[in-house]
Amino acid sequence: MGFRTLDQADLSGKRALVRVDFNVPMQDGAVSDDTRLRAALPTIEKLRKGGAKTILLAHFDRPKGKRVPEMSLKPVVEPLARVLGVPVAFAEDCIGPKAREAVNAMQPGDVLLLENVRFHAGEEANDRAFADALAANGDLYVNDAFSAAHRAHASTEALARRLQAYAGEQMRLELEALDSALGNPQRPVLGIVGGSKVSTKLDLLRNLVTKLDKLAIGGGMANTFLYAQGHDVGASYCEKDLADTARDIIRLAGQNNCKLFLPLDVVVAEKMAPGAPARVRDAGSIDDDERILDAGPETVERLCRAMSNSRTLIWNGPLGVFEMQPFDKGTVTAAKHAAELARSGKLVAVAGGGDTVAALNLAGVTGDFTFVSTAGGAFLEWMEGKELPGVAALTR
Ligand code: 3PG
Repeated sequence: MGFRTLDQADLSGKRALVRVDFNVPMQDGAVSDDTRLRAALPTIEKLRKGGAKTILLAHFDRPKGKRVPEMSLKPVVEPLARVLGVPVAFAEDCIGPKAREAVNAMQPGDVLLLENVRFHAGEEANDRAFADALAANGDLYVNDAFSAAHRAHASTEALARRLQAYAGEQMRLELEALDSALGNPQRPVLGIVGGSKVSTKLDLLRNLVTKLDKLAIGGGMANTFLYAQGHDVGASYCEKDLADTARDIIRLAGQNNCKLFLPLDVVVAEKMAPGAPARVRDAGSIDDDERILDAGPETVERLCRAMSNSRTLIWNGPLGVFEMQPFDKGTVTAAKHAAELARSGKLVAVAGGGDTVAALNLAGVTGDFTFVSTAGGAFLEWMEGKELPGVAALTR
């Protein structure tokens, strides 16, 4: 897809500056989920095997150009060393004498993590001088952080233009999977977009209806579409001011021959609380005090049929309030069906976005999907059809 991979690199003895995404969940100063650390493993192993010196660049949180001790990457060192099975050195700055000394002390095969690049204002400003300072410690550049590629920052963009740049293994996997879902998919392609707010997913919906054969809208945002079609949504979450926009999207889908699936039936309750008494209603007949909290059984069954009749699925956002039983049922049933089809090779199933991953984990099917992106914002921007600066810089 127009980028260089590590198989094309001469690694022996080289200082490889590797942008990874170690923006990991932390609790009480300790890493609570090491998924993103494990995602970096294939690239680091490849570099070590090739005899490179692996110098890891990463951000953590949003320190806004200042040294914020609670946002140090230091707590990542031990869990990373455990994942890799080798020691990991740490330098308290990503540029300047501290970084230089640590890099100079490295032997081929060594791994070094540099302190949070966002401690310098030059990172988010995509500043040339800062990128030069980063580049001074490397012979080549590897970007393995798809999930940060929507940021045009020095370590994701400017640096790629200073050194010979390569896509890391996770980046390559991610780009290939995304291409197989939306760039160059086996058709028919079905999309599922859920979550609560239409307002955050307007660009995404507008792009998807031009690319997909079928699109199912679920979660809270489906309420806005139901309302736009003249249905009463009772006390449900609904962005009523976006009714015109929803109607525009319905029109655009029609113009592009994208079949839209809106809920036929829904699960409602008077209170959004775990175990709240729930009822199934037709989408058009909700009482004033009822709230829509999940997709109904008929809707889910039709969605599962649509999956069975598709070759590719791209999924972002849950169908209901999946964090709360019994309102997890729609999302979990649909996720299990997708997983079964993917497992038997009948469906290319790709999913991404924070809540989506949590929902698939809850359904216990993450491993069965063809690909589950670790990216949040980057996955959404890619689904919106936007060029990601960090990817563009690799494909120049
Ligand atoms: C993420 O966690 O999605 C990425 O690391 C990007 O983080 P950011 O939104 O702070 O740029």
